[in-house]
Amino acid sequence: MQLRQKSITKKPSSLKPQVPIHVAIIMDGNGRWAERQGLPRLAGHRAGTSNISRIIRFFANHGVSYLTLYAFSTENWARPDHEVRGLLSLLGEVIHEETQSLHKQNVRVRHVGRLDRLPQQLQRNIYDGLALTKDNTGLTLCIAFDYGGRDEILEAIKEMLRNGISPEHVTESVFHNYLYTRGVPDPDLIIRTAGELRLSNFLLWQSAYSEYYCTSTLWPDFDSNEVRQALDAYKNRRRRFGRVLED
Ligand code: FPP
Repeated sequence: MQLRQKSITKKPSSLKPQVPIHVAIIMDGNGRWAERQGLPRLAGHRAGTSNISRIIRFFANHGVSYLTLYAFSTENWARPDHEVRGLLSLLGEVIHEETQSLHKQNVRVRHVGRLDRLPQQLQRNIYDGLALTKDNTGLTLCIAFDYGGRDEILEAIKEMLRNGISPEHVTESVFHNYLYTRGVPDPDLIIRTAGELRLSNFLLWQSAYSEYYCTSTLWPDFDSNEVRQALDAYKNRRRRFGRVLED
């Protein structure tokens, strides 16, 4: 089955948006989900991982073109060793088990963040998955793994300096091309599950005019109904992008 994708429209000039082009999700609450079931934290991450493929389908079927999932932040390295190892191993499993299926669904997979700190074999598997799906024309799925907004901005600045870009040539669009998300439109809607109200170093530059949607639902329980509610809430927002517009 190929995932349906609506054509990419321009940034809406009317106040009332319809379907977001790009949805980004902070998948929070796996630990609490596990705790509530009396299970170890990793069982929560496993349940959260299982949720990912159906959520991809729901958003694609609603006409969303880009989906970014925050799977591991630059700060998450500070978690206990066994949890970090568990998350790395889950990523390996997902690549092994899901890449072919995503490819069949015409999904293009992107990685956003650093690759250099991941185990070599995992890096190779990621590169293979990216290469396999790079020409797909359906939903673009960005996996933010070892991603941090501050790290991204610093890396972009370092690379611009290495390339000898002079200050007068530093524009928003040049800067965009140095980000891990180069070529990906800014997120229209950022969803955070599990009730916290913070950005946690996610897409700091890109979220300047994103709409936020927070739900107390824990990530493993975030389902099609929740997707519909988030998209309905988005439809009722008034997006002004700093301007004054008539309704
Ligand atoms: C936050 O829950 C979630 C994460 C740190 C990682 C999200 C990861 C997954 C959904 C699985 C891994 C994904 C891939 C693609 C392999 P938390 O642990 O902070 O939950 P808590 O706040 O309830 O403790």
